[in-house]
Amino acid sequence: MKCLVTGGAGFIGSTLVDRLLHEGFEVVAYDNLSTGFPQFVESARASGRFRFVQGDLLDPPALTEAMKDCAIVYHLAANADIRKGTAQPRRDLDQNTIGTFNVLEAMRANGCSQIAFASSSAVYGNAVQIPTPEDVAMPVQISLYGASKLAGEGLVSAYCEAFGFKGWIFRFVSVLGERYSHGHVFDFVKQLRSDPTRMRVLGDGNQKKSYMHVYDCVDAIRLAVEKAESPCSIFNLGVENYVTVKQSIGWITGRMQLAPRLEFTGGERGWIGDAPFVWLDPGRILALGWQPKFTIEQSVVRTVDWLRDNDWAFARA
Ligand SMILES: NC(=O)c1ccc[n+]([C@@H]2O[C@H](COP(=O)([O-])OP(=O)(O)OC[C@H]3O[C@@H](n4cnc5c(N)ncnc54)[C@H](O)[C@@H]3O)[C@@H](O)[C@H]2O)c1
Repeated sequence: MKCLVTGGAGFIGSTLVDRLLHEGFEVVAYDNLSTGFPQFVESARASGRFRFVQGDLLDPPALTEAMKDCAIVYHLAANADIRKGTAQPRRDLDQNTIGTFNVLEAMRANGCSQIAFASSSAVYGNAVQIPTPEDVAMPVQISLYGASKLAGEGLVSAYCEAFGFKGWIFRFVSVLGERYSHGHVFDFVKQLRSDPTRMRVLGDGNQKKSYMHVYDCVDAIRLAVEKAESPCSIFNLGVENYVTVKQSIGWITGRMQLAPRLEFTGGERGWIGDAPFVWLDPGRILALGWQPKFTIEQSVVRTVDWLRDNDWAFARA
């Protein structure tokens, strides 16, 4: 079976590409390399079942051509940086919502009707129930990123109803691990590389967040795609606990053997659109038989180690 992975040169997408190749699939990675890295698909290139297409979601003919003969699309390409929303309001709309529409239309043109979509815990905004189940009353959106992902979810589910597609929607918490190239651990390690004596922390450091390891994330996606029966299923992906930003900082600085002075910017949120408490109920995916292999602490430490060993990842940041 041939699969298309949009965002296949990104952090999570490239890990999924490796997993699909390992499982014996033929894989096309479609990526414009805006935040992805050619290095992430280096090992995949050794496989005769892999093809990389450098292309943009906003180029429908190229997308349609790359998808030829694919039976399923794993749609991960997006602007994954929630914080840039206010500076570039059009970016989330274009990359995440219009991009998803273009993927769905390219699927229709190709007769491909299965889509696994990377959504986000950001769609829960200031969640009204914690731990948050998938069927919580959908709250008011607090970020352009969350709004664009929710719109993407709406399009995927509507295509399932309208055109007989099968869809899997995954709402991830923040993902950590090997190839991690954006997010709070990246920012902290970057700061400490340039000045090990001090570190600026957005918010008061008491934000409570759940994290998961990228291998656990990819395991869950593959399990759901193989096992979920419903024409359009929604899964929270996250572990059964959470940590504070301060705890996470303790593991990062401990691993780097540093004791920087922490400078908090203050307030319960790190930035506009930041949810101060993110903890999802992963009951649905657990019921399918998924079990995470990594604790949050292990995920943080492995991320720090990967960044230490791959300092080229900081060159573009
Ligand atoms: N990393 C997380 O913690 C996290 C959490 C929740 C949801 N997600 C979602 O998971 C997906 C993957 O995230 P990631 O962390 O791997 O991000 P990433 O930035 O590493 O990967 C995204 C990939 O998409 C590519 N891309 C972006 N815009 C594109 C476009 N217009 N056309 C073609 N390619 C394009 C980038 O070059 C990159 O390789 C995203 O949809 C993101 O919103 C990620």
